[in-house]
Amino acid sequence: MATHKKPAAHSAANSRTASARQKRIAQANRHLLIGVLLMLLAVALIVVIIVLCVRGGGKKPADTSSPEASSAFAESSETPSEPDESSAPELSEVEYSEDPFSRYTYEYQIDITPYLDYIDPRDVMECVFLVNPTQTPAADFVPADLVDCVHTRKDGRAMQKLRLNAEMALEAFLKEGLTCGAVTNVTVTSAYRSYSYQAQLFETYCQQHQYKFKTREECEAYVLTFSTKPGTSEHQSGLCCDMHNLGSAEQSFAKKPEAKWLAENCWKFGFILRYPADKEDITKIIYEPWHFRFVGRFAATEMHELGMCLEEYIAYKGLE
Ligand code: DAL
Ligand code: ZN
Repeated sequence: MATHKKPAAHSAANSRTASARQKRIAQANRHLLIGVLLMLLAVALIVVIIVLCVRGGGKKPADTSSPEASSAFAESSETPSEPDESSAPELSEVEYSEDPFSRYTYEYQIDITPYLDYIDPRDVMECVFLVNPTQTPAADFVPADLVDCVHTRKDGRAMQKLRLNAEMALEAFLKEGLTCGAVTNVTVTSAYRSYSYQAQLFETYCQQHQYKFKTREECEAYVLTFSTKPGTSEHQSGLCCDMHNLGSAEQSFAKKPEAKWLAENCWKFGFILRYPADKEDITKIIYEPWHFRFVGRFAATEMHELGMCLEEYIAYKGLE
């Protein structure tokens, strides 16, 4: 009988050991679970703290970008840099948040919807800058987002290029002109120009007119009233174009009904007539009824209302 008892005692002992082991495993699992939960809680806490910090630090209305953020010769508007708040001029938030175009009742004849994102750049002051002898792009500056200008005159010249916003706005502008029956045959003769092309152009003008002057300096001073030295032409910005329906750009274009319609309606598409007849003393360039500059609809509308040229508007806005 004793031989039968021994295995029974052994089995009871075994079962106690197994139950103790199970308890230890269960306890270890509980500790592991608590550890994991504590870790998750800590991670969630860190995430909440980071989100609160980021929100607090980036407090700035979306459309109040500083001119520094949109440097005149920024390569592209695709990856705008953070505004440098410390050096940004004091600009009224109202001026930036209120769309001046909303004060008008103009109804586009074309469907303007696909063009709006281009006519209204996200940063409304992105394209508001001067190119002149003191504000010059680097000689090798080429805008990153140049695209073909579909309205390039088809007379064997190279396809002209514009920055994407300017090109799309121009397409809308000329489509509207065509739809209204006002502009049917205006084409672009010159848009983006490289530094070296502008150098070539300026030299050609100097040589053409030299016979009228005693010195090169006198001749250059004359040429500078209608052309610019390389590095000082806004054509290098890719934001402007010369367009007309004459054999070559002449002031007589101003008398054409097409020129009148373009000058009167350009602001609705974010363009300005860059060198107006009554601002020659400010721009230092003679009247160019063919030269249109894209600045975005916000600025173009304000300039239209204020009757200002780009130099005046930039001074008015404190963007110098
Ligand atoms: N005709 C304009 C002024 C230029 O050369 O940039
Ligand atoms: Zn021009």
